Amino acid sequence: MVETRIKGILLAGGSGTRLYPMTQGASKQLLPVYDKPMIYYPLTTLMLAGIQDIMIISTPNDLPQFKRLLGDGSHLGVRFEYCEQPSPDGIAQAFILARDWLQNSPCALVLGDNLIFADHLGELLQKAASRSHGATVFAYQVRDPERYGVVSFDEAGKAQQIIEKPAEPPSNWAVTGLYFYDARVSEFASRIKPSPRGEYEITDLNQIYLEDNSLHVERLGRGCAWLDAGVPDSLMQAGLFVQTIQSRQGMLVGSPEEVAYRKGFIDSEALRNLAKKLKKTELGRMLAEIVDGPPV
Ligand code: DAU
Repeated sequence: MVETRIKGILLAGGSGTRLYPMTQGASKQLLPVYDKPMIYYPLTTLMLAGIQDIMIISTPNDLPQFKRLLGDGSHLGVRFEYCEQPSPDGIAQAFILARDWLQNSPCALVLGDNLIFADHLGELLQKAASRSHGATVFAYQVRDPERYGVVSFDEAGKAQQIIEKPAEPPSNWAVTGLYFYDARVSEFASRIKPSPRGEYEITDLNQIYLEDNSLHVERLGRGCAWLDAGVPDSLMQAGLFVQTIQSRQGMLVGSPEEVAYRKGFIDSEALRNLAKKLKKTELGRMLAEIVDGPPV
């Protein structure tokens, strides 16, 4: 049997109204998070999971800008496909839009404003990517669960229910914007009806997997940072977080170039060329050091 390779969807549309006026003239996912466009972070997450076939979904207006930034992906050893979402009708609509491209492959979905940073994240993601049956979501404890999809657990630690933005959250475990689904995802997504707010809810898709008894919920602990850069405060916090780690440790956060190299998608010569293009920046210098070590 030929193994089906997992594909990835990066959802980078929406209207970004919570970041107005910044997003009145520019796409939210292209705003800077310290030294990189926001979309680099979720893109890096998909690549860390070993995914090389990636569909970028955005608004008809913003899609050309993503194409200009990311091209066909060959410089990173990946393949980008672009798809328009005519209007922001919900996160789960991604699987309806991508159905023909997916061709029943398993698929990961990441939201374009989600940044996850953790030790051994690659291993955790590869474990989720290698599950051939069911879905995997990640839960993270937050102080303001009412802003998110919230998952509650029974005494044995098994996920009980998932509710989208509950007024009275049953727990403080938020579901992050990173999801892994098996080959049934498009079929399950086509069963979803728009919610009272008119959206195809990702939480309804997760609920279908929960009822199917095949939803895995991985709880992310203290050593992990999950940030969504969807409002001015969290955008600022995300930028400061990246700046702190990079300047303190001298290690990059959210560099698709570095991950492409470490995963073997590109060779050292290709990374050297990418670093050269960025040579006037600290980012370019840090990439050059990854291949050739510090300047002597
Ligand atoms: O960040 C995690 C949360 O993301 C989850 O806990 C929630 O369950 C999930 O519904 C989602 O909540 P948000 O309130 O953050 O969703 P929002 O409508 O802001 O959409 C998230 C991103 O997806 C945003 O960057 C825009 C993009 N998007 C959204 C919709 C609804 C699209 O590209 N198209 C869409 O139709």
